[in-house]
Amino acid sequence: MPHDLFGTPVIAAPMAGGTSTPAFVEAVHRAGGLGFLAAGYKTVAAMQADIRTVRESGARFGMNVFVPDPAQLPPSAAVLAELEDYRLQLRTDARRYGAELPQLRLADDDEWQGKIDALLSDPVELVSFAFGLPGPDVVRALQRAGSAVLATVTTAAEAVQAAGQGVDALVVQHTSAGGHSAAFLPAPEAHVAEPGGSQLALPGGTTAELLAEVRSAVGLPLVAAGGIMDAAGLDAVLRAGAVAAQLGTAFLRTDQSGAKQLHKDALADPHFTRTRLTRAFTGRQARALENEFVRDHPGAPEAYPAVHHLTAPLRAAAAAAGDAERLNLWAGTGWQKAQAGPVAGVVHGLLAGR
Ligand SMILES: Cc1cc2nc3c(=O)[nH]c(=O)nc-3n(C[C@H](O)[C@H](O)[C@H](O)COP(=O)(O)O)c2cc1C
Repeated sequence: MPHDLFGTPVIAAPMAGGTSTPAFVEAVHRAGGLGFLAAGYKTVAAMQADIRTVRESGARFGMNVFVPDPAQLPPSAAVLAELEDYRLQLRTDARRYGAELPQLRLADDDEWQGKIDALLSDPVELVSFAFGLPGPDVVRALQRAGSAVLATVTTAAEAVQAAGQGVDALVVQHTSAGGHSAAFLPAPEAHVAEPGGSQLALPGGTTAELLAEVRSAVGLPLVAAGGIMDAAGLDAVLRAGAVAAQLGTAFLRTDQSGAKQLHKDALADPHFTRTRLTRAFTGRQARALENEFVRDHPGAPEAYPAVHHLTAPLRAAAAAAGDAERLNLWAGTGWQKAQAGPVAGVVHGLLAGR
């Protein structure tokens, strides 16, 4: 029974980078939703500590893991040259804060094997993956250990590939989503430029339409993600065949969200008027509020996580200086509806009338 997998139609997205704290996940659970911890950028030990803390609270939860891309670890010689160029470009940003740019870090796999081993030896109820597929062996091993496995996909073609690995359910992420795109196959040819810049966006359609398209390609339970901000948005994806929605941006400003105050404030600041897909911060397409850093670096290389490490000191310096123009302000296209206040307010609003 697909519904039993989650027990609720409201899932709070795993949000790496400090947003999905154990307290956040617990608050989501208490309010009637289901939260995911985010292992991304964390050590194995830090991931395990988060698991312990949420378990002690008695909350149900899932764990989300980034899949490394073997094609980028290490990057090709051509990409390496682009990275060197980008490093030179970023010197202007670094000088602004008196920050040092680090040497390039080219082979960070986010402790992939250590995280899988830890999740096999101490299983959690749900494991979701983003940025790629874990491989059928990992899927089977996690399932044998007792976990249900979710893969994140952004097209019907990715969904078919994920289903072929034997996962239990899919998170279907639309391009309106805040934060990184989980895409792992080359985007369809019909790439279109977003108005006003050279960065790329997947073409057309709504989250519900993408969901329906994936629904017709695979028989797995589907979780819809991207731009869902209220009960009407939730209804639309459930009507299209989703068993639940995974929301990120709607929770960013909440009291229990671990997002930086600067980020929370920017989401409510009318100075920011649109979101853009950008590689400027991490080397992987991510949707963020358009700020100066996004505008200044439209041609950042496709090199994740090398660019993430390269810009880390700049982002830290921007945060310390209270400079929202150079911070990665992840936001989905629905950001203007994100509410401050307790997590429970958001979850109850979504569940109202159900
Ligand atoms: C700040 C932030 C961090 C995110 N981090 C992750 C992550 O670690 N893993 C992941 O699978 N998705 C991550 N996402 C994407 C969400 O899972 C989800 O696809 C997205 O938030 C849905 O779109 P919405 O923001 O419009 O609700 C993140 C999103 C945001 C806004």
